[in-house]
Amino acid sequence: DYTPRPEDKFSFGLWTVGWEGVDVFGPASRPRLDPVEATYKLAEMGAAAVTFHDDDLLPDEDTREHTLDRFTKALADTGLRTEMVTTNLFSPPIFKEGALTANNREVRRYAVQKVLRNIDLAASLGADTFVLWGGREGAEHGAGKNIRASLDRMAEGLNLFCDYAIEQGYSLKFALEPKPNEPRGDILLPTIGHAIALINELDHPEMVGVNPEVGHEEMAGLNFAHGIAQAMWHGKLFHVDLNGQHGPRFDQDLRFGAGNLRGAFWTVDTLLGAGTGNAYEGYVHFDFKPPRAESIEGVWESARGCMRNYLILRDRAQAFRADPEVQQALAASEVGALDEPTLAPGESLADLRQASYDVTTLAERDIAMEALDQLAMEHLLGAR
Ligand code: GCO
Ligand code: MN
Ligand code: MN
Ligand code: MN
Repeated sequence: DYTPRPEDKFSFGLWTVGWEGVDVFGPASRPRLDPVEATYKLAEMGAAAVTFHDDDLLPDEDTREHTLDRFTKALADTGLRTEMVTTNLFSPPIFKEGALTANNREVRRYAVQKVLRNIDLAASLGADTFVLWGGREGAEHGAGKNIRASLDRMAEGLNLFCDYAIEQGYSLKFALEPKPNEPRGDILLPTIGHAIALINELDHPEMVGVNPEVGHEEMAGLNFAHGIAQAMWHGKLFHVDLNGQHGPRFDQDLRFGAGNLRGAFWTVDTLLGAGTGNAYEGYVHFDFKPPRAESIEGVWESARGCMRNYLILRDRAQAFRADPEVQQALAASEVGALDEPTLAPGESLADLRQASYDVTTLAERDIAMEALDQLAMEHLLGAR
């Protein structure tokens, strides 16, 4: 039974089901979806939370208060939470050349103002996480953007936001979302690793983590499961955007499980702790775009598919880890032996240097990982 339930902690961006199908080559193919109606529908489907950009929910000042009232009533009626809030720093034409890292200082100050207002909103709704995706922070040209100065301004902005949250007594944490390109030709902080490196230079690194998206790492040809494993190792996986992607090409934002299915299996396994018990405890957040050719029925089918695919893959990953043959195969591949430090406690480098190693036998040893991987494949395909 793969019925989504609130305890599964599924969360959806309101902009995902709300995407009207506007793309580079054509206008909307679907009517506008009222985000408050979408909130009720997602609750009915088994989600636990929703997330939004300021402009998805509150596109103008005139309707702001009224929509907020309707939205908070929807949350109260359904028991859904707002677990994350993010700011649209990419659609308004003022941000055409960047927001926090625009060359123009007035633009940067306006971007900071927009974020501060949205931080207040996020805190008032009790959100845990505040995501920053810098879609327009980048360049198409060489000399037009000083990358070191961009990093200075990005760090400055993040330091201002952290200071503000501390000063206001908000318990919000910030999460940077990397993406290699699109809409800019080259985006600042293109991968998980770039983002974590910047975070470590901030005034309050403990308040800032990452919100990696499956498709964004895969657009760069990277292994998403490995990327989030490293983020977890740094204690930086504050949030996650699950979706699907077919290799390096435009950002497809497919429903989770579509595209690279094997990658999705290892992603779920990694979130569950890859057999170690160190699991990701946050919301399972979907950031996808129901394909433009679908009608509204297809939109809900796509959302349901994200959750069902996660539950199916969770079931498959758990069965894989629980299988005694898999445990034997893991031992045959010496997977557990990697937990042992290379130099034992109390041992000196002299001990290591004096020992002799059977280079020929070690080179000839069987790593047995094809057998292990075939077991994973058979669990994934439901053949075991
Ligand atoms: C993308 C991005 C965006 C961000 C979202 C949060 O697909 O390029 O994922 O959708 O996640 O805007 O700010
Ligand atoms: Mn994307
Ligand atoms: Mn995203
Ligand atoms: Mn997206």
